[in-house]
Amino acid sequence: MVASPVFTDVLVIGGGAAGLSLALRIADFAHVTVLTKGPLFEGSTYYAQGGVSAVLDARDSIESHLQDTLIAGAGLCHADVVRFTVEHGRAVIEWLAAQGTPFTRESTPEGGAEYHLHREGGHSHRRIVHAADATGQAIQTTLEQRARQHPNIALNEQHSAIDLITSRKLGLGDNRCLGAYVLNRHTGQVEVFAARFVVLATGGANRVYLYTSNPDGSTGDGIAMAWRAGCRIANMEFIQFHPTCLYHPQAKSFLISEAVRGEGGILLLPDGTRFMQNFDSRLELAPRDIVARAIDHEMKRLGAECVYLDITHKPAEFIRSHFPNIDAKCREYGFDLTKEPLPVVPAAHYTCGGVLTDLAGCTDLEGLYAIGETACTGLHGANRMASNSLLECLVFASAASEDIRVRLPNTPNPPPLPEWDESRVTDSDEEIVVTHNWEELRRFMWDYVGIVRTDKRLQRARHRTELLLREIDEYYGNFRISSDLIELRNLALVADLIIRSALERKESRGLHYTLDYPETMDDVPPRDTVLVPENFAGKELPPRWSLGSG
Ligand code: FAD
Ligand code: SIN
Repeated sequence: MVASPVFTDVLVIGGGAAGLSLALRIADFAHVTVLTKGPLFEGSTYYAQGGVSAVLDARDSIESHLQDTLIAGAGLCHADVVRFTVEHGRAVIEWLAAQGTPFTRESTPEGGAEYHLHREGGHSHRRIVHAADATGQAIQTTLEQRARQHPNIALNEQHSAIDLITSRKLGLGDNRCLGAYVLNRHTGQVEVFAARFVVLATGGANRVYLYTSNPDGSTGDGIAMAWRAGCRIANMEFIQFHPTCLYHPQAKSFLISEAVRGEGGILLLPDGTRFMQNFDSRLELAPRDIVARAIDHEMKRLGAECVYLDITHKPAEFIRSHFPNIDAKCREYGFDLTKEPLPVVPAAHYTCGGVLTDLAGCTDLEGLYAIGETACTGLHGANRMASNSLLECLVFASAASEDIRVRLPNTPNPPPLPEWDESRVTDSDEEIVVTHNWEELRRFMWDYVGIVRTDKRLQRARHRTELLLREIDEYYGNFRISSDLIELRNLALVADLIIRSALERKESRGLHYTLDYPETMDDVPPRDTVLVPENFAGKELPPRWSLGSG
Protein backbone atom coordinates (compact mmCIF):
# COMPACT_ATOMS: atom_id res chain seq x y z
CA MET A 1 0.00 0.00 0.00
CA VAL A 2 1.31 3.46 -0.89
CA ALA A 3 1.58 5.86 2.10
CA SER A 4 -0.30 9.16 1.73
CA PRO A 5 1.87 12.21 1.12
CA VAL A 6 3.01 14.03 4.24
CA PHE A 7 2.53 17.80 4.31
CA THR A 8 4.55 20.09 6.57
CA ASP A 9 5.44 23.79 6.62
CA VAL A 10 9.18 23.15 6.80
CA LEU A 11 10.90 19.88 5.90
CA VAL A 12 14.33 19.64 7.53
CA ILE A 13 16.53 16.90 6.06
CA GLY A 14 19.07 16.16 8.79
CA GLY A 15 18.99 16.07 12.58
CA GLY A 16 22.45 17.25 13.69
CA ALA A 17 23.41 20.61 15.22
CA ALA A 18 22.24 22.49 12.13
CA GLY A 19 18.95 20.66 11.53
CA LEU A 20 17.78 20.37 15.14
CA SER A 21 18.67 23.92 16.15
CA LEU A 22 16.79 25.23 13.11
CA ALA A 23 13.81 22.95 13.84
CA LEU A 24 13.63 24.18 17.45
CA ARG A 25 13.72 27.81 16.39
CA ILE A 26 11.05 27.31 13.71
CA ALA A 27 8.73 25.17 15.81
CA ASP A 28 7.64 28.26 17.72
CA PHE A 29 5.81 29.57 14.63
CA ALA A 30 5.39 26.67 12.16
CA HIS A 31 5.11 22.91 11.84
CA VAL A 32 8.43 21.18 11.20
CA THR A 33 9.23 17.67 10.01
CA VAL A 34 12.77 16.38 10.54
CA LEU A 35 14.17 13.40 8.61
CA THR A 36 17.26 11.46 9.60
CA LYS A 37 18.51 8.47 7.69
CA GLY A 38 19.57 6.50 10.77
CA PRO A 39 18.88 7.00 14.47
CA LEU A 40 18.47 10.66 15.41
CA PHE A 41 21.80 10.93 17.20
CA GLU A 42 23.88 9.52 14.32
CA GLY A 43 25.67 12.37 12.54
CA SER A 44 29.01 14.13 12.91
CA THR A 45 27.60 16.42 15.58
CA TYR A 46 27.38 13.61 18.11
CA TYR A 47 31.09 12.81 17.68
CA ALA A 48 32.43 16.38 17.89
CA GLN A 49 35.00 16.63 20.63
CA GLY A 50 36.80 19.97 20.83
CA GLY A 51 33.86 22.38 21.00
CA VAL A 52 32.40 25.58 19.58
CA SER A 53 34.49 28.70 18.98
CA ALA A 54 33.15 32.03 20.28
CA VAL A 55 34.57 35.23 21.65
CA LEU A 56 33.74 35.10 25.37
CA ASP A 57 36.96 36.06 27.13
CA ALA A 58 37.53 39.75 27.93
CA ARG A 59 41.09 39.48 26.49
CA ASP A 60 39.76 38.13 23.18
CA SER A 61 37.98 40.14 20.46
CA ILE A 62 35.77 39.74 17.40
CA GLU A 63 38.61 41.23 15.31
CA SER A 64 40.99 38.56 16.54
CA HIS A 65 38.57 35.68 15.79
CA LEU A 66 37.93 37.25 12.38
CA GLN A 67 41.64 37.58 11.57
CA ASP A 68 42.45 34.03 12.72
CA THR A 69 39.65 32.65 10.53
CA LEU A 70 40.82 34.67 7.52
CA ILE A 71 44.40 33.48 7.97
CA ALA A 72 43.38 29.82 8.28
CA GLY A 73 41.13 30.21 5.20
CA ALA A 74 44.17 31.14 3.05
CA GLY A 75 42.65 34.14 1.26
CA LEU A 76 39.32 32.58 0.29
CA CYS A 77 37.09 33.38 3.26
CA HIS A 78 34.38 35.96 2.58
CA ALA A 79 35.15 38.59 5.19
CA ASP A 80 31.50 39.71 5.51
CA VAL A 81 30.43 36.13 6.22
CA VAL A 82 33.22 35.65 8.77
CA ARG A 83 32.24 38.84 10.56
CA PHE A 84 28.55 37.90 10.55
CA THR A 85 29.37 34.46 11.99
CA VAL A 86 31.80 35.44 14.71
CA GLU A 87 29.62 38.36 15.82
CA HIS A 88 26.80 35.88 16.53
CA GLY A 89 29.04 33.50 18.51
CA ARG A 90 28.07 34.64 21.98
CA ALA A 91 24.33 34.62 21.17
CA VAL A 92 24.30 31.03 19.90
CA ILE A 93 26.34 29.77 22.86
CA GLU A 94 23.88 31.43 25.21
CA TRP A 95 20.99 29.90 23.23
CA LEU A 96 22.57 26.43 23.54
CA ALA A 97 23.18 26.92 27.25
CA ALA A 98 19.55 28.03 27.68
CA GLN A 99 18.44 24.77 25.99
CA GLY A 100 20.36 22.98 28.77
CA THR A 101 23.72 22.10 27.15
CA PRO A 102 26.08 21.22 30.02
CA PHE A 103 29.19 23.19 29.00
CA THR A 104 32.27 22.86 31.22
CA ARG A 105 32.64 25.83 33.55
CA GLU A 106 35.30 27.02 35.96
CA SER A 107 34.82 29.09 39.08
CA THR A 108 35.81 32.74 39.09
CA PRO A 109 37.60 34.52 42.00
CA GLU A 110 34.28 36.31 42.64
CA GLY A 111 32.56 32.97 43.28
CA GLY A 112 30.75 32.78 39.89
CA ALA A 113 31.25 30.24 37.07
CA GLU A 114 32.50 31.08 33.59
CA TYR A 115 32.82 28.86 30.56
CA HIS A 116 36.12 27.02 30.56
CA LEU A 117 37.80 27.79 27.22
CA HIS A 118 40.14 25.49 25.27
CA ARG A 119 42.60 26.55 22.61
CA GLU A 120 43.00 24.87 19.20
CA GLY A 121 45.06 25.23 16.01
CA GLY A 122 44.93 28.62 14.29
CA HIS A 123 43.24 30.37 17.25
CA SER A 124 45.37 33.05 18.87
CA HIS A 125 43.22 32.95 22.03
CA ARG A 126 41.45 30.44 24.19
CA ARG A 127 37.93 30.57 22.73
CA ILE A 128 36.61 27.01 22.46
CA VAL A 129 33.54 26.44 24.62
CA HIS A 130 33.26 22.73 25.38
CA ALA A 131 31.64 19.99 27.43
CA ALA A 132 34.80 18.15 28.52
CA ASP A 133 35.96 16.33 25.36
CA ALA A 134 32.48 15.22 24.23
CA THR A 135 30.94 18.54 23.26
CA GLY A 136 29.02 17.18 20.29
CA GLN A 137 27.35 14.50 22.38
CA ALA A 138 26.26 17.12 24.92
CA ILE A 139 24.82 19.39 22.20
CA GLN A 140 23.12 16.60 20.24
CA THR A 141 21.57 15.00 23.31
CA THR A 142 20.28 18.33 24.60
CA LEU A 143 18.74 19.36 21.27
CA GLU A 144 17.24 15.91 20.79
CA GLN A 145 15.53 16.00 24.17
CA ARG A 146 14.06 19.40 23.36
CA ALA A 147 12.93 18.35 19.88
CA ARG A 148 11.29 15.14 21.14
CA GLN A 149 9.20 17.16 23.59
CA HIS A 150 8.07 19.83 21.10
CA PRO A 151 4.49 19.39 19.82
CA ASN A 152 5.28 21.20 16.54
CA ILE A 153 8.17 18.91 15.57
CA ALA A 154 7.65 15.52 13.89
CA LEU A 155 10.78 13.38 13.97
CA ASN A 156 11.14 10.69 11.30
CA GLU A 157 14.19 8.52 11.94
CA GLN A 158 15.31 5.88 9.40
CA HIS A 159 14.00 8.04 6.53
CA SER A 160 16.50 8.68 3.70
CA ALA A 161 15.75 11.54 1.33
CA ILE A 162 16.41 10.40 -2.24
CA ASP A 163 15.81 13.53 -4.28
CA LEU A 164 14.19 16.94 -4.10
CA ILE A 165 10.91 17.55 -5.92
CA THR A 166 11.02 20.77 -7.91
CA SER A 167 8.44 22.59 -10.03
CA ARG A 168 10.86 22.46 -12.98
CA LYS A 169 10.95 18.65 -12.86
CA LEU A 170 7.14 18.63 -12.79
CA GLY A 171 6.92 21.14 -15.66
CA LEU A 172 5.21 23.71 -13.42
CA GLY A 173 6.90 26.97 -14.43
CA ASP A 174 9.28 28.92 -12.18
CA ASN A 175 11.68 26.67 -10.37
CA ARG A 176 10.85 26.11 -6.70
CA CYS A 177 11.51 23.32 -4.24
CA LEU A 178 8.25 21.58 -3.31
CA GLY A 179 9.36 18.64 -1.20
CA ALA A 180 11.30 15.39 -1.42
CA TYR A 181 11.01 11.70 -2.23
CA VAL A 182 12.03 9.76 0.85
CA LEU A 183 12.81 6.08 1.45
CA ASN A 184 11.16 4.88 4.63
CA ARG A 185 13.74 2.34 5.77
CA HIS A 186 11.22 0.64 8.10
CA THR A 187 8.82 -0.25 5.29
CA GLY A 188 11.06 -0.06 2.20
CA GLN A 189 8.47 2.27 0.58
CA VAL A 190 9.25 5.60 -1.06
CA GLU A 191 7.09 8.34 0.45
CA VAL A 192 6.31 11.87 -0.71
CA PHE A 193 6.99 14.76 1.69
CA ALA A 194 5.51 18.07 0.51
CA ALA A 195 6.60 21.31 2.16
CA ARG A 196 6.49 25.07 1.80
CA PHE A 197 10.22 25.18 2.57
CA VAL A 198 12.90 22.50 2.52
CA VAL A 199 16.16 22.75 4.46
CA LEU A 200 19.18 20.60 3.68
CA ALA A 201 21.14 19.92 6.89
CA THR A 202 22.67 16.64 5.79
CA GLY A 203 26.28 17.12 6.93
CA GLY A 204 29.48 16.46 4.97
CA ALA A 205 30.74 14.04 2.34
CA ASN A 206 33.87 12.69 3.99
CA ARG A 207 32.95 9.04 3.59
CA VAL A 208 34.03 9.48 0.01
CA TYR A 209 37.50 8.69 1.42
CA LEU A 210 38.66 5.31 2.68
CA TYR A 211 39.87 6.71 6.02
CA THR A 212 37.63 9.24 7.75
CA SER A 213 36.84 10.44 11.24
CA ASN A 214 33.16 10.72 10.22
CA PRO A 215 30.23 8.40 10.91
CA ASP A 216 28.88 6.22 8.10
CA GLY A 217 26.17 8.64 6.98
CA SER A 218 28.53 11.42 5.80
CA THR A 219 27.89 10.65 2.15
CA GLY A 220 27.21 14.12 0.77
CA ASP A 221 23.51 13.46 0.11
CA GLY A 222 22.50 17.12 0.43
CA ILE A 223 25.21 18.31 -1.94
CA ALA A 224 24.26 15.69 -4.52
CA MET A 225 20.50 16.38 -4.22
CA ALA A 226 21.05 20.13 -4.55
CA TRP A 227 23.26 19.70 -7.62
CA ARG A 228 20.69 17.46 -9.30
CA ALA A 229 18.01 20.04 -8.48
CA GLY A 230 20.03 22.76 -10.21
CA CYS A 231 22.01 24.54 -7.45
CA ARG A 232 25.56 25.77 -7.74
CA ILE A 233 28.18 23.95 -5.65
CA ALA A 234 31.35 25.70 -4.51
CA ASN A 235 34.89 24.93 -3.30
CA MET A 236 34.62 21.16 -3.21
CA GLU A 237 38.38 20.69 -3.61
CA PHE A 238 38.87 21.81 -0.02
CA ILE A 239 38.49 18.60 1.97
CA GLN A 240 40.00 18.87 5.42
CA PHE A 241 42.11 16.01 6.76
CA HIS A 242 42.30 16.00 10.55
CA PRO A 243 45.96 15.46 11.52
CA THR A 244 45.45 13.18 14.49
CA CYS A 245 43.22 10.12 14.30
CA LEU A 246 44.11 7.07 16.34
CA TYR A 247 46.08 4.54 14.32
CA HIS A 248 44.64 1.16 15.23
CA PRO A 249 42.93 -1.40 12.98
CA GLN A 250 39.71 -1.43 15.02
CA ALA A 251 39.54 2.27 15.97
CA LYS A 252 37.85 3.44 12.69
CA SER A 253 40.01 6.59 12.67
CA PHE A 254 38.84 7.66 16.14
CA LEU A 255 39.64 11.35 16.56
CA ILE A 256 42.21 12.58 19.07
CA SER A 257 41.01 16.13 19.54
CA GLU A 258 43.09 19.12 18.54
CA ALA A 259 42.48 20.32 22.09
CA VAL A 260 45.10 17.73 23.16
CA ARG A 261 47.65 19.74 21.18
CA GLY A 262 46.01 22.92 22.52
CA GLU A 263 46.83 21.74 26.04
CA GLY A 264 50.48 21.03 25.16
CA GLY A 265 50.49 17.77 23.17
CA ILE A 266 53.46 17.48 20.78
CA LEU A 267 53.99 15.46 17.61
CA LEU A 268 56.89 13.02 17.34
CA LEU A 269 58.44 10.86 14.65
CA PRO A 270 58.72 7.12 15.40
CA ASP A 271 62.26 7.73 16.76
CA GLY A 272 60.94 10.32 19.25
CA THR A 273 62.13 13.45 17.38
CA ARG A 274 59.86 16.49 17.30
CA PHE A 275 59.33 17.76 13.71
CA MET A 276 56.72 20.55 13.45
CA GLN A 277 59.46 23.20 13.88
CA ASN A 278 60.60 22.26 10.34
CA PHE A 279 57.22 23.22 8.90
CA ASP A 280 55.67 26.17 10.75
CA SER A 281 56.58 28.56 13.55
CA ARG A 282 53.20 27.86 15.20
CA LEU A 283 54.39 24.27 15.63
CA GLU A 284 51.63 21.81 16.60
CA LEU A 285 49.07 24.64 16.68
CA ALA A 286 49.49 25.64 13.05
CA PRO A 287 46.26 25.37 10.99
CA ARG A 288 45.22 21.82 10.18
CA ASP A 289 46.18 21.81 6.50
CA ILE A 290 49.79 22.52 7.47
CA VAL A 291 49.95 19.95 10.28
CA ALA A 292 48.26 17.21 8.21
CA ARG A 293 50.59 17.85 5.26
CA ALA A 294 53.64 17.82 7.53
CA ILE A 295 52.60 14.44 8.97
CA ASP A 296 51.88 13.07 5.49
CA HIS A 297 55.30 14.31 4.32
CA GLU A 298 57.15 12.72 7.24
CA MET A 299 55.26 9.42 6.95
CA LYS A 300 56.07 9.19 3.22
CA ARG A 301 59.70 10.28 3.75
CA LEU A 302 60.31 7.63 6.40
CA GLY A 303 57.94 4.98 5.07
CA ALA A 304 56.31 5.16 8.53
CA GLU A 305 52.79 3.91 9.24
CA CYS A 306 52.04 6.71 11.69
CA VAL A 307 53.53 9.45 13.84
CA TYR A 308 52.99 9.94 17.58
CA LEU A 309 51.13 12.44 19.75
CA ASP A 310 52.63 12.88 23.18
CA ILE A 311 51.07 14.63 26.19
CA THR A 312 52.71 12.49 28.87
CA HIS A 313 54.63 15.52 30.21
CA LYS A 314 51.32 16.79 31.70
CA PRO A 315 50.08 15.37 35.03
CA ALA A 316 47.91 12.26 34.59
CA GLU A 317 45.10 13.85 36.60
CA PHE A 318 45.06 16.90 34.31
CA ILE A 319 44.89 14.70 31.19
CA ARG A 320 42.12 12.47 32.55
CA SER A 321 39.99 15.37 33.73
CA HIS A 322 40.31 17.28 30.45
CA PHE A 323 39.98 14.31 28.13
CA PRO A 324 37.93 11.63 29.91
CA ASN A 325 36.34 10.20 26.74
CA ILE A 326 39.54 10.11 24.73
CA ASP A 327 41.25 8.49 27.70
CA ALA A 328 38.53 5.83 27.96
CA LYS A 329 38.52 5.14 24.22
CA CYS A 330 42.32 4.83 24.10
CA ARG A 331 42.26 2.37 26.98
CA GLU A 332 39.74 0.27 25.03
CA TYR A 333 42.43 -0.10 22.36
CA GLY A 334 45.21 -0.75 24.86
CA PHE A 335 46.80 2.73 24.99
CA ASP A 336 47.36 4.87 28.09
CA LEU A 337 47.78 8.47 26.92
CA THR A 338 48.99 9.56 30.34
CA LYS A 339 51.99 7.21 30.02
CA GLU A 340 52.78 6.74 26.30
CA PRO A 341 52.64 8.65 23.02
CA LEU A 342 49.63 7.70 20.87
CA PRO A 343 50.07 6.47 17.25
CA VAL A 344 48.19 8.91 14.99
CA VAL A 345 47.50 9.45 11.26
CA PRO A 346 45.47 12.01 9.28
CA ALA A 347 41.96 11.11 8.01
CA ALA A 348 39.27 12.93 5.98
CA HIS A 349 37.36 15.06 8.44
CA TYR A 350 35.45 18.02 7.02
CA THR A 351 33.94 19.20 3.70
CA CYS A 352 34.66 22.94 3.39
CA GLY A 353 32.75 23.26 0.12
CA GLY A 354 29.11 22.51 -0.53
CA VAL A 355 25.82 24.03 -1.62
CA LEU A 356 26.38 27.69 -2.27
CA THR A 357 24.28 29.90 0.01
CA ASP A 358 23.86 33.48 1.10
CA LEU A 359 23.87 34.83 4.66
CA ALA A 360 20.38 33.44 5.29
CA GLY A 361 21.22 29.94 4.04
CA CYS A 362 19.23 30.46 0.79
CA THR A 363 20.39 28.38 -2.19
CA ASP A 364 19.86 28.99 -5.92
CA LEU A 365 16.52 27.15 -5.75
CA GLU A 366 13.57 29.13 -4.39
CA GLY A 367 12.28 27.56 -1.17
CA LEU A 368 15.46 25.52 -0.58
CA TYR A 369 17.94 26.32 2.20
CA ALA A 370 21.25 24.62 3.05
CA ILE A 371 22.87 24.92 6.48
CA GLY A 372 25.72 23.27 8.38
CA GLU A 373 28.46 21.22 6.80
CA THR A 374 26.47 20.61 3.61
CA ALA A 375 26.54 24.34 2.80
CA CYS A 376 29.28 26.57 1.48
CA THR A 377 28.59 29.94 3.05
CA GLY A 378 32.01 31.49 2.43
CA LEU A 379 33.05 31.22 6.09
CA HIS A 380 35.80 28.63 5.80
CA GLY A 381 37.52 29.58 2.55
CA ALA A 382 40.30 27.16 1.66
CA ASN A 383 40.62 25.68 5.16
CA ARG A 384 38.22 25.59 8.12
CA MET A 385 39.62 26.69 11.43
CA ALA A 386 39.02 24.28 14.32
CA SER A 387 35.63 24.54 16.05
CA ASN A 388 34.24 27.03 13.55
CA SER A 389 31.96 24.35 12.09
CA LEU A 390 29.53 23.93 14.97
CA LEU A 391 29.52 27.70 15.24
CA GLU A 392 28.49 27.96 11.58
CA CYS A 393 25.77 25.29 12.02
CA LEU A 394 24.22 27.26 14.87
CA VAL A 395 24.54 30.75 13.40
CA PHE A 396 23.14 29.82 9.99
CA ALA A 397 20.33 27.74 11.52
CA SER A 398 19.30 30.88 13.35
CA ALA A 399 19.61 33.08 10.24
CA ALA A 400 17.67 30.65 8.03
CA SER A 401 14.89 30.27 10.59
CA GLU A 402 14.52 34.05 10.69
CA ASP A 403 14.32 34.23 6.88
CA ILE A 404 11.68 31.48 6.82
CA ARG A 405 9.68 33.26 9.53
CA VAL A 406 9.51 36.37 7.35
CA ARG A 407 8.63 34.53 4.11
CA LEU A 408 6.20 31.95 5.48
CA PRO A 409 2.99 34.08 5.51
CA ASN A 410 3.37 34.79 1.77
CA THR A 411 4.31 31.28 0.72
CA PRO A 412 1.48 29.06 -0.58
CA ASN A 413 1.18 25.33 0.04
CA PRO A 414 2.74 23.15 -2.68
CA PRO A 415 0.43 21.61 -5.30
CA PRO A 416 -0.37 17.85 -5.15
CA LEU A 417 2.84 15.97 -5.93
CA PRO A 418 3.13 12.76 -7.98
CA GLU A 419 4.01 9.47 -6.34
CA TRP A 420 7.42 7.86 -6.83
CA ASP A 421 7.36 5.77 -10.01
CA GLU A 422 8.50 2.18 -9.42
CA SER A 423 6.73 0.67 -12.40
CA ARG A 424 9.90 -0.04 -14.38
CA VAL A 425 12.23 -1.44 -11.70
CA THR A 426 12.77 -4.90 -10.21
CA ASP A 427 14.56 -6.20 -7.09
CA SER A 428 18.30 -6.28 -7.54
CA ASP A 429 19.99 -9.66 -7.81
CA GLU A 430 23.45 -8.09 -7.79
CA GLU A 431 23.91 -6.24 -4.49
CA ILE A 432 27.62 -7.04 -4.78
CA VAL A 433 27.91 -4.35 -7.49
CA VAL A 434 27.00 -1.68 -4.92
CA THR A 435 29.46 -2.97 -2.30
CA HIS A 436 32.25 -3.32 -4.82
CA ASN A 437 31.74 0.18 -6.24
CA TRP A 438 31.65 1.70 -2.74
CA GLU A 439 35.02 0.17 -1.93
CA GLU A 440 36.62 1.06 -5.24
CA LEU A 441 35.46 4.66 -5.06
CA ARG A 442 36.69 5.30 -1.53
CA ARG A 443 40.04 3.65 -2.24
CA PHE A 444 40.87 5.64 -5.38
CA MET A 445 39.69 8.89 -3.79
CA TRP A 446 42.15 8.23 -0.94
CA ASP A 447 44.98 7.27 -3.29
CA TYR A 448 44.49 9.93 -6.01
CA VAL A 449 42.55 12.83 -4.49
CA GLY A 450 44.02 12.94 -0.97
CA ILE A 451 46.30 15.32 0.94
CA VAL A 452 48.80 15.70 -1.93
CA ARG A 453 47.48 15.77 -5.50
CA THR A 454 48.74 15.91 -9.09
CA ASP A 455 46.85 16.51 -12.33
CA LYS A 456 47.69 13.01 -13.49
CA ARG A 457 46.24 11.39 -10.37
CA LEU A 458 43.16 13.61 -10.57
CA GLN A 459 42.60 12.68 -14.23
CA ARG A 460 42.92 9.02 -13.33
CA ALA A 461 40.31 9.45 -10.61
CA ARG A 462 38.04 11.42 -12.97
CA HIS A 463 38.14 8.66 -15.54
CA ARG A 464 37.15 6.05 -12.95
CA THR A 465 34.37 8.24 -11.55
CA GLU A 466 32.86 8.69 -15.00
CA LEU A 467 32.72 4.93 -15.47
CA LEU A 468 31.22 4.44 -12.02
CA LEU A 469 28.62 7.16 -12.54
CA ARG A 470 27.45 5.48 -15.76
CA GLU A 471 27.27 2.07 -14.11
CA ILE A 472 25.42 3.43 -11.07
CA ASP A 473 22.94 5.33 -13.27
CA GLU A 474 22.10 2.17 -15.14
CA TYR A 475 21.71 0.25 -11.89
CA TYR A 476 19.56 3.05 -10.43
CA GLY A 477 17.27 3.00 -13.49
CA ASN A 478 16.68 -0.74 -13.34
CA PHE A 479 16.56 -1.79 -9.71
CA ARG A 480 14.48 -0.93 -6.64
CA ILE A 481 16.03 1.77 -4.49
CA SER A 482 17.95 0.88 -1.29
CA SER A 483 19.73 3.09 1.23
CA ASP A 484 23.14 1.77 0.08
CA LEU A 485 22.31 2.63 -3.51
CA ILE A 486 21.14 6.15 -2.54
CA GLU A 487 24.45 6.75 -0.76
CA LEU A 488 26.64 5.24 -3.48
CA ARG A 489 24.90 7.35 -6.16
CA ASN A 490 25.49 10.48 -4.07
CA LEU A 491 29.09 9.61 -3.18
CA ALA A 492 30.02 9.02 -6.81
CA LEU A 493 28.51 12.36 -7.82
CA VAL A 494 30.23 14.19 -4.97
CA ALA A 495 33.55 12.51 -5.85
CA ASP A 496 33.13 13.85 -9.37
CA LEU A 497 32.43 17.36 -8.03
CA ILE A 498 35.54 17.21 -5.82
CA ILE A 499 37.75 16.05 -8.68
CA ARG A 500 36.38 18.61 -11.15
CA SER A 501 36.92 21.40 -8.63
CA ALA A 502 40.45 20.19 -7.87
CA LEU A 503 41.29 20.11 -11.58
CA GLU A 504 40.04 23.68 -11.99
CA ARG A 505 42.41 25.07 -9.36
CA LYS A 506 45.83 25.59 -10.93
CA GLU A 507 47.59 26.52 -7.68
CA SER A 508 48.06 25.19 -4.15
CA ARG A 509 45.97 26.95 -1.54
CA GLY A 510 44.85 25.89 1.92
CA LEU A 511 43.69 22.29 1.85
CA HIS A 512 44.27 21.88 -1.88
CA TYR A 513 47.92 21.00 -2.43
CA THR A 514 49.18 19.86 -5.83
CA LEU A 515 52.72 18.98 -6.83
CA ASP A 516 52.05 20.39 -10.31
CA TYR A 517 51.33 23.91 -8.98
CA PRO A 518 52.96 24.03 -5.52
CA GLU A 519 52.74 27.83 -5.18
CA THR A 520 49.76 29.99 -4.21
CA MET A 521 48.86 32.49 -6.95
CA ASP A 522 49.40 35.71 -5.03
CA ASP A 523 49.43 37.98 -8.07
CA VAL A 524 45.71 37.59 -8.94
CA PRO A 525 42.68 37.97 -6.65
CA PRO A 526 41.77 34.62 -5.07
CA ARG A 527 38.79 32.89 -6.70
CA ASP A 528 36.24 30.41 -5.43
CA THR A 529 35.65 27.32 -7.54
CA VAL A 530 31.97 27.51 -8.42
CA LEU A 531 30.50 24.60 -10.39
CA VAL A 532 27.44 25.64 -12.36
CA PRO A 533 24.78 23.05 -13.31
CA GLU A 534 23.40 22.77 -16.82
CA ASN A 535 20.14 24.55 -16.05
CA PHE A 536 22.08 27.83 -15.78
CA ALA A 537 23.20 27.53 -19.42
CA GLY A 538 22.66 30.82 -21.21
CA LYS A 539 21.28 32.50 -18.07
CA GLU A 540 22.85 35.32 -16.17
CA LEU A 541 24.33 33.99 -12.92
CA PRO A 542 22.77 35.28 -9.72
CA PRO A 543 25.12 37.98 -8.39
CA ARG A 544 26.42 36.41 -5.21
CA TRP A 545 29.42 34.21 -5.64
CA SER A 546 29.52 34.49 -9.39
CA LEU A 547 33.17 35.48 -9.18
CA GLY A 548 35.94 35.85 -6.65
CA SER A 549 35.76 35.87 -2.89
CA GLY A 550 33.95 39.15 -2.33
P1 FAD B 1 25.57 16.21 10.99
O1 FAD B 1 25.70 16.40 12.44
O2 FAD B 1 26.58 15.35 10.31
O3 FAD B 1 24.13 15.62 10.73
C1 FAD B 1 23.73 15.21 9.44
C2 FAD B 1 22.29 14.72 9.53
O4 FAD B 1 21.78 14.57 8.23
C3 FAD B 1 22.13 13.38 10.21
O5 FAD B 1 20.99 13.46 11.04
C4 FAD B 1 21.86 12.42 9.07
O6 FAD B 1 21.05 11.31 9.41
C5 FAD B 1 21.09 13.33 8.14
N1 FAD B 1 21.09 12.94 6.74
C6 FAD B 1 22.14 12.90 5.88
N2 FAD B 1 21.72 12.51 4.67
C7 FAD B 1 20.38 12.30 4.76
C8 FAD B 1 19.38 11.87 3.87
N3 FAD B 1 19.65 11.55 2.59
N4 FAD B 1 18.11 11.76 4.32
C9 FAD B 1 17.80 12.03 5.59
N5 FAD B 1 18.72 12.46 6.49
C10 FAD B 1 19.98 12.58 6.07
N6 FAD B 1 33.34 20.79 14.55
C11 FAD B 1 33.49 21.75 15.48
O7 FAD B 1 33.12 22.91 15.25
N7 FAD B 1 34.03 21.45 16.68
C12 FAD B 1 34.45 20.20 17.00
O8 FAD B 1 34.91 19.95 18.09
C13 FAD B 1 34.32 19.18 16.02
N8 FAD B 1 34.76 17.92 16.27
C14 FAD B 1 34.51 16.95 15.35
C15 FAD B 1 34.85 15.63 15.65
C16 FAD B 1 34.52 14.62 14.79
C17 FAD B 1 34.90 13.18 15.10
C18 FAD B 1 33.85 14.91 13.58
C19 FAD B 1 33.47 13.81 12.62
C20 FAD B 1 33.55 16.22 13.26
C21 FAD B 1 33.86 17.24 14.14
N9 FAD B 1 33.55 18.57 13.86
C22 FAD B 1 33.73 19.53 14.80
C23 FAD B 1 32.79 18.91 12.66
C24 FAD B 1 31.31 19.05 13.07
O9 FAD B 1 31.01 18.08 14.03
C25 FAD B 1 30.38 18.87 11.89
O10 FAD B 1 30.79 19.69 10.83
C26 FAD B 1 28.97 19.27 12.30
O11 FAD B 1 28.56 18.53 13.42
C27 FAD B 1 28.01 19.04 11.15
O12 FAD B 1 26.71 19.21 11.64
P2 FAD B 1 25.50 19.10 10.66
O13 FAD B 1 24.28 19.36 11.47
O14 FAD B 1 25.75 19.92 9.46
O15 FAD B 1 25.52 17.58 10.17
C1 SIN C 1 38.84 18.40 17.34
O1 SIN C 1 38.38 18.29 18.48
O2 SIN C 1 40.04 18.33 17.06
C2 SIN C 1 37.90 18.65 16.22
C3 SIN C 1 37.60 20.07 16.17
C4 SIN C 1 37.01 20.43 14.86
O3 SIN C 1 36.95 19.62 13.93
O4 SIN C 1 36.63 21.60 14.74
